[in-house]
Amino acid sequence: MPTVTKICCIGAGYVGGPTCAVIALKCPHIQVTIVDLNQARIDAWNSRDYKLPIYEPGLEDVVREARGRNLFFSTDIDKAIQEADLIFVSVNTPTKKSGVGAGFAADLKYVESATRHIAKVATSSKIVVEKSTVPCRTAESMRTILEANSRPNCRFDILSNPEFLAEGTAINDLFNPDRVLIGSLQTPDGIAASNALLEVYANWVPKDRVLTVGLWSSELSKLAANAMLAQRISSVNALSAICEATGANIDEVAHAIGYDSRIGPKFLRASVGFGGSCFQKDILNLVYLSESLHLPEVAEYWKQVVVMNEYQKRRFSKTVVDTLFNTITGKRIAVLGFAFKADTGDTRESPAITLVRDFLQEKALVNIYDPQVVHEQIWTDLTEVMPSVPLSDIKKQVHITTSALECCLNTEAVVIATEWREFREIDWEVVYTGMNKPAFVFDGRLLVDIQKLKEIGFQVAVIGRGE
Ligand code: NAD
Ligand code: UGA
Repeated sequence: MPTVTKICCIGAGYVGGPTCAVIALKCPHIQVTIVDLNQARIDAWNSRDYKLPIYEPGLEDVVREARGRNLFFSTDIDKAIQEADLIFVSVNTPTKKSGVGAGFAADLKYVESATRHIAKVATSSKIVVEKSTVPCRTAESMRTILEANSRPNCRFDILSNPEFLAEGTAINDLFNPDRVLIGSLQTPDGIAASNALLEVYANWVPKDRVLTVGLWSSELSKLAANAMLAQRISSVNALSAICEATGANIDEVAHAIGYDSRIGPKFLRASVGFGGSCFQKDILNLVYLSESLHLPEVAEYWKQVVVMNEYQKRRFSKTVVDTLFNTITGKRIAVLGFAFKADTGDTRESPAITLVRDFLQEKALVNIYDPQVVHEQIWTDLTEVMPSVPLSDIKKQVHITTSALECCLNTEAVVIATEWREFREIDWEVVYTGMNKPAFVFDGRLLVDIQKLKEIGFQVAVIGRGE
């Protein structure tokens, strides 16, 4: 079995960064080098004052302990590849924007270019690990590229090792994973490579939590896990619409169904819709895979999870407009939260982006506050979602504030889009005093005390709560 002493991770993003930083922390005997094409990102990982490129609770402590010891961040990709015994490919795999499969298929150009880079510069044999989420059988394409372009004395074993961390809890998820999944060809070489990676994880993960399976099962399991998680949210959000129409309470319904041990209580929180870089992308990927395999009913089934999510976001912004007497033109609305979930500064596919766009299209004025999202990111997201509107015009309608209280001041309505803990501690009496009347609160994250807010004088609308 090959022994791993040097690891290279290609891609210093939300997955490559935290995952390989934790490997370095837990395996001081292994040298870990995380590389990226993006110089600014690498500079941020190396910054003296630990202004890391991503916000993730606990990450800074990990980097402080391991960086410079056995953890390195670099743009010297060639050197890191040449030195490594094992290479994680942890690059982005966004949805294709044009060409065959546009809007559904994963764009594998970054995976392919990283693979070609390995083939071109490697001077010794490597274990190459797919960490990125990829369509089923991508490992086969990687093998073909590697074998066709490598030097004669180099051989490559390809493994699939998908990542299941969630943003906001990434460090805890990496320290205590429910499971680590390793897929390999079931050949002696494939199994030996799989065991070599297993020994890396065995430094802190109990061996019975490391599942070793075939390559294609591993690739598909990652798409399947995200699809099933997203499906739970779309299911509970579909029920939230029924609750609003009937007077049932989605919290009570979710609690009641979650008590069934076969269903379980987690991931049943109704919301304004799921966001994040992966759920939608991975389901669309599964839809495309199903269509390519001539399984239209299967494709249609999974597509509904995304359709329901879009419906939920639209339904919520329509509730705001309807409740504010069918017009929000010229009215100022406070949007609390812009990240796709709490404890991250990530805004990819955040439902808040859709809500703000809808409000702007209705000609409302919008205040935005988020404790972690950098202002530049908000402007970038709004420009991308409204490509025909110049940023200077967007800026006339949008004001980014530096506190929740300031955000709510002189507004007609407060919309809670992200479940940041600090929004649970808002002094609603003070907010109410500073708002125009009647003052409305629209809670897309089930975090306010409806009764208390009503007693203060607010009109309150909460996802999944009818009168
Ligand atoms: P990201 O965009 O944050 O990071 C990817 C990085 O790869 C970027 O910094 C980019 O510059 C770099 N890169 C691209 N091509 C490169 C190349 N050829 N050489 C060197 N660097 C290159 O993406 P992410 O969120 O870390 O996601 C990476 C993969 O992990 C995706 O497939 C995603 O689906 C999957 N995933 C993400 C999460 C998550 O929470 N974000 C969780 C599990 C799995
Ligand atoms: C998700 C999965 O949970 C991870 O296992 C997976 O590795 C990752 O995608 C990925 O492949 O990228 P993440 O998107 O970071 O992780 O965060 P989640 O906690 O899953 O939340 C996703 C979205 O669903 C958020 O917008 C969140 O607010 C929403 N959500 C979550 C709900 O609306 N209700 C819930 O009950 C749970």
